[in-house]
Amino acid sequence: MKRLGLTFLTMLMLVWGCGQETPQQNVAEASAEEAAEIVPLGSRAATMLMDSLKAALSAAIIAGGPAHAIDICNLQAMPLTAEIAQSLPGEVQIKRTSFKYRNPANAPDDVETAALHYFAAKADAGAELPGHYVQKVSENGAVYFNYYQPLRTAGLCLTCHGDRETMDDNLKAALAARYPQDLATGYGEGDFRGVIKVQIEPESDQ
Ligand code: HEC
Repeated sequence: MKRLGLTFLTMLMLVWGCGQETPQQNVAEASAEEAAEIVPLGSRAATMLMDSLKAALSAAIIAGGPAHAIDICNLQAMPLTAEIAQSLPGEVQIKRTSFKYRNPANAPDDVETAALHYFAAKADAGAELPGHYVQKVSENGAVYFNYYQPLRTAGLCLTCHGDRETMDDNLKAALAARYPQDLATGYGEGDFRGVIKVQIEPESDQ
């Protein structure tokens, strides 16, 4: 009886969960006029993040080696993104995401996956990567924009995202301990690595 009761409860929870209203979301590529407004702010945020991350990473690698430097990526990327977002006007959120993510917290959602496909298709075709891609998202009456800037792997990045076989042993051990399901290795120089996403809710005119 007890077991039956539990099963019933589980079913009820499942039905309840499925019946929950999903938010009404509509995603489309932004028009040229909309993009013209969003791109300057998005690219400013993305550049600020990349500059500060690269500087912090290089300094940490020099000071303590790559195994020490993963703390920068892991511990400082989040506060850095929050700090940059706060310094910009309007509601801004910054995230890094990739098909092959290291931290599951950076995994792409459906909307971000569409943007990753946009760049990956160009990269697969051997084409030049567009500098950005902007989505307009309407959700329950609110409108915001997602600005995406593609990232390619350069020499510095390969220290931690390159071939696992040739990776520094301490680094390999530190990565295995912290990210047991790490997908973000095996990249070559110039590969499409992922995107910086800047979600921007423009300030209302009133
Ligand atoms: C010192 C090692 C190190 C270097 C160098 C490094 N990364 Fe990372 N990278 C990491 C770690 C660790 C994470 C996971 C961060 C976290 O926990 O959010 C990460 C995460 C990322 C992510 C977020 C998606 C994911 O995989 O979780 C992107 C995108 C990324 N790195 C791109 C780059 C690029 C581009 C470069 C070169 C400019 C670079 N990384 C250099 C260690 C490094």
